Amino acid sequence: MISPKQRAGEAAATLIEDGMNVGLGTGSTTAFAIEALGRRIRKEGLHVQGVPTSFFAERLARQSGIPLISLDEVATLDLAFDGADEVDPYFNLIKGRGAAHTREKVVAAQAKRFVVLVDDSKMVEKLGLKMPLPIEVLPMALGPVTRVLENMGALPALRMGLRKDGPVVSDQGFWIVDATFSEGLPELDMLNQTVLQIPGILEHGLFLRMATDVLIGHENGQLSHLQRPA
Ligand code: A5P
Repeated sequence: MISPKQRAGEAAATLIEDGMNVGLGTGSTTAFAIEALGRRIRKEGLHVQGVPTSFFAERLARQSGIPLISLDEVATLDLAFDGADEVDPYFNLIKGRGAAHTREKVVAAQAKRFVVLVDDSKMVEKLGLKMPLPIEVLPMALGPVTRVLENMGALPALRMGLRKDGPVVSDQGFWIVDATFSEGLPELDMLNQTVLQIPGILEHGLFLRMATDVLIGHENGQLSHLQRPA
């Protein structure tokens, strides 16, 4: 039996129509969608162009035979798909476990439809109780950013590499600070604005009201498709 992530990922590929420009997300769930889209291109002769959100997505898309373009070449994407770390009942997201959230947010913001792919363990009532908020930081600003986050009540931790000594370095050459809030994320609009105003922060992983659809793979083999009311 296929996993819930695979079910959600492969379902995303069925939403793609001939001629679409598509945002290609990052992560283990999205990888299933990229590979399935590549198979549709080969079997059905589908004509699509993809905008990758990371080196990871770019390499996988090339291996899968998906033609790539940049956001300089297209003004609007018909659809973007991507994974998430947490999804709340209002379609707000925490993203960035893979340190790709900055490019992911840029790409999602260009899409008419932003389809989020998760297994049901990612659905939460309140964001930030299980996962920290990933924040992409200019290395020389680490000290000041850490102090501001601490003053906001967060517990910030520089993300360290697993098979590399030292910090995780993003595709942009920045570092990632994971900010844990013991009571979950505080009021989301205020948090969004406050964090973005701290000098030295490139972007954070809170995606507010961007998702239009959520595809949820369940352990029992079911798939749910939630659509945000217009
Ligand atoms: C990448 O930085 C992230 O935003 C991922 O999209 C997110 O962490 C989901 O990843 P998985 O699909 O691997 O769980």
